[in-house]
Amino acid sequence: MKLCVAFDLASFDECVNLAKELKGLDLWIKIGLRSYLRDGIKLIESIKSIDEFKIFLDLKLYDIPNTMADACEELAKIDVDMINIHASAGKTAMVTIMDRLNALNKRPLVLAVSALTSFDNDEFQNLYHQGIPNAVKNFSKISYESGLDGMVCSVYESLLVKESTNKNFITLTPGIRPFKEEANDQKRVANIQCAKENLSDFIVIGRPIYKASEPRAICQEILTCI
Ligand code: C5P
Repeated sequence: MKLCVAFDLASFDECVNLAKELKGLDLWIKIGLRSYLRDGIKLIESIKSIDEFKIFLDLKLYDIPNTMADACEELAKIDVDMINIHASAGKTAMVTIMDRLNALNKRPLVLAVSALTSFDNDEFQNLYHQGIPNAVKNFSKISYESGLDGMVCSVYESLLVKESTNKNFITLTPGIRPFKEEANDQKRVANIQCAKENLSDFIVIGRPIYKASEPRAICQEILTCI
């Protein structure tokens, strides 16, 4: 299991300083909407120049197939190791994206977002007229059949994703609260033991690390348990 730290910080300098503080640790860094919209490729280049961190660019793309495939091709030109799209964009979009990316010499891993970890079952049911497990199962199957590399889901769906597809199909699980921290806006939260039992390949942790007084110490503690 790998630790992926969400860099959802308020400025370029705060992100770079956090990367410097975490230098040398075996972890991935997740650059999300806030940081990427503000700082763009410059932030990714700066982080990569600090250490050989793997970068997950979490933009959760959702559009028509050709627009998504164009965007993914642009992202493949940046030195990032993983990107993601919304599974609800559908199979045509996924197949178009993977056809385009597989034609390149090198491509990032591509994950599909199933159900955001900020949804509880009631809110999800009202929007999508089905329960989370059913939706995750369907989304996982079409993502796997389309040649993607894995899913973003909560810990509670990680086993279901693997059972519906393949045990090597990656699960990346946000909503982790390692030491009983506040859930904040997350609904389907879990701890590290639970993530392990459910075979998560990546755990994503943001606020419990970057809001801590000693982020490096927290990361080291997490790394000893995973
Ligand atoms: O601060 P926290 O640990 O809740 O951060 C979780 C991160 O994972 C955020 O950057 C959020 O955008 C992202 N994420 C999520 N749920 C998903 C997909 C991504 O929380 N389903």
